[in-house]
Amino acid sequence: MFIDTHCHLEDENFSADRADVLNRARAAQVERIINFGSTMHSSIAVAELAENYAELYAGVGIHPEEIDDFDAATCNRLADLAANKKIVAIGEIGLDYHWEKDSERRLIQQRIFIEQLDLARQLKLPVCVHDRDAHADTLKILQAEARDLRGVLHCYSGSLETAREVWKLGWYIGVDGPLTFKNSAKLPEVVKAAPLELILIETDAPYLAPVPYRGKRNEPAYVVEVAKKLAEVRGETLKEVAAYTTANAKSLYRL
Ligand code: NI
Repeated sequence: MFIDTHCHLEDENFSADRADVLNRARAAQVERIINFGSTMHSSIAVAELAENYAELYAGVGIHPEEIDDFDAATCNRLADLAANKKIVAIGEIGLDYHWEKDSERRLIQQRIFIEQLDLARQLKLPVCVHDRDAHADTLKILQAEARDLRGVLHCYSGSLETAREVWKLGWYIGVDGPLTFKNSAKLPEVVKAAPLELILIETDAPYLAPVPYRGKRNEPAYVVEVAKKLAEVRGETLKEVAAYTTANAKSLYRL
């Protein structure tokens, strides 16, 4: 079996055919799926989906591009949602410097990231981190603030050097569709060097569909394409990849 450890099935792209999407996931042996919120609204939505479908779990959190409404009450509201057993993580949280160029606002992203790491610590939950073009600051914050936390750098896009520091913390890297792209840059090298106990597979659906679906809407069934590529790059069988990535997901998220 496979576990899609990061997706966004609450997205409106799935409103018309969510049940079909889940059926295709089941048929592809993708037996568990973790949806992540990025706003309060989507965090509530992923929590509701997790209540309604046995195979769905969820993480709640405020994404770095969505921090405008973050206030003193936000963490309390996230904590209330996280009281539900099927909420297995805080996320996705982190830093996004791709879209945010203003240095003052980047500092606000950092403060809110740290506040949500504190929340995860209080709730004893693992963390799913979004890091886009912010590798140095993300690593610095994890090294300073998250040594006692478990988590994953989802949709990993950093260097091998950074990955080695992430692994030293006992943190995971999440591998997605870009591994299957021709221009996957440093990712195959990172994935080849990764300790097998620190790799997760994910789709980030509806975004980043793997080859041969590149450019289309992504969905959890396609996580198998990521697993196939992982097997090819690392010289393993698909069965081996399925076994260790599933064990890793269960271990991190206590599924
Ligand atoms: Ni995501």
